Amino acid sequence: MLAEAARAATAYLAAIDGRPVLGGRVAEAAAAFDEALPEKGDGSAEALALLAEEGFDAATASAGPRFFHFVTGGSTPAALAADWLASALDQNSFSWVSSPLGSRLEKVATGWLKDLFGLPPSWGCVLTTGATMANFTGLGSARRWWAAEHGVDVDLKGFAGLPPAPVLTSGYVHASALKALGMLGLGRDNVRRCARDAAGRLDLDALTGALKELKGAPAIVVANAGEVNAGDFDPIAEMVEVAHANHAWVHVDGAFGLFARVSNSAAALAAGVETADSVIADGHKWLNVPYDCGFAFVRDPELMRGAFSLAGPYLPQGTDERPSFADYGPEASRRARALSVWATLKAYGREGHREMVERHLALARRVGAAVEAAPDLELLAPVQLNVVCYRYRPPGVAEGELDELNRRLGAAILEDGRVYFGTTVYAGKVAFRPAVSNWRTTEADVDLIATVTRELGAALAASR
Ligand SMILES: Cc1ncc(COP(=O)(O)O)c(C=O)c1O
Repeated sequence: MLAEAARAATAYLAAIDGRPVLGGRVAEAAAAFDEALPEKGDGSAEALALLAEEGFDAATASAGPRFFHFVTGGSTPAALAADWLASALDQNSFSWVSSPLGSRLEKVATGWLKDLFGLPPSWGCVLTTGATMANFTGLGSARRWWAAEHGVDVDLKGFAGLPPAPVLTSGYVHASALKALGMLGLGRDNVRRCARDAAGRLDLDALTGALKELKGAPAIVVANAGEVNAGDFDPIAEMVEVAHANHAWVHVDGAFGLFARVSNSAAALAAGVETADSVIADGHKWLNVPYDCGFAFVRDPELMRGAFSLAGPYLPQGTDERPSFADYGPEASRRARALSVWATLKAYGREGHREMVERHLALARRVGAAVEAAPDLELLAPVQLNVVCYRYRPPGVAEGELDELNRRLGAAILEDGRVYFGTTVYAGKVAFRPAVSNWRTTEADVDLIATVTRELGAALAASR
């Protein structure tokens, strides 16, 4: 079965550079799985054959070079192969006792990640399923700190007797951080956005004023390193300075933006992250390891343990040498994600990953230049990182009609499938925001972004 899976996957990946992101028979292929639970079972060979035949056609080619939707990384060869071995070994990476390999590799890999991102070695770090659970981990540690400042162990006693927790951020806050705040009982709506414009840029004076109004009561500030629409950054060092002067914790959501620190050219955008209290990033985005993987870093690892440790007479106690990573994050049983993180860092090193990030930054600038050179495209924000925010704006179409035209064009681009990215709303305008983060992506791949937008846009504009 493994040999057959390897054969099918190898053939698929060998052809992926030429495959459309969305094939022509997706719905039909997906429908092939609609059947009743087999009573006796059809056998492993048949199950795998259905996956390889219909399943591959029902998938998007998100492992390939032209999936620019959301922020979607690929899998480096070393990471992908190591991830297969994680499944073959089927380790439960919750403790040293259940998996010495998983524990040791998580300790090594999280140490390497701190080094890669320029974070102090004394910080805690745990692998999670993604940035949302990493946000949950960082903000869960923040919640523990905030309640302790009020004299309450919130993880033991709950919220009784505590006031609402003040949470402040810019207009760049991501839906994932809001989801994490909701899951933590801090409230999605209980977030004050200090924004100075429609794009959501931070109003530092408003943040300072709001913190001062709290008169020293503890608070939580969420800073955003890499905003999804245009890849912009909050001024993290300034936010930390004002937050720390006013008794506030700073959590940085750097799901993809933290990788600016892996580059030479964009590192300054994420300056000051090392002075924050918790920071997160994704592995399945810009590290190019398979889904699912994220990382949470917390200055004081004891807060992570206080919030997330689990104990029972049959459960082993972790030590520094033989850690139980389940004590530092939300899951108990855990996939051995460290294998793929360790393998990609071991295989390509700091230089390999830096080279990939720099290449993606150059590709994004190339898209930005193509947009600026086209008379019917409008760049809506400077290209700072790996996201390009623009819209179709042919001469002669009134401003009031552009949102609808771009929305329809977005649907046409997804259906066309040569390149894949959706629409957003940026500063009140419907816009595109392709993001480059797959190691396979080339100049020819990104050149299709403007070409396809203009071609499909012209056809739509002509049919209006
Ligand atoms: C800034 C930011 N934070 C958090 C997330 C959530 O990441 P995940 O889907 O890995 O949970 C994303 C995903 O796009 C993101 O861009």
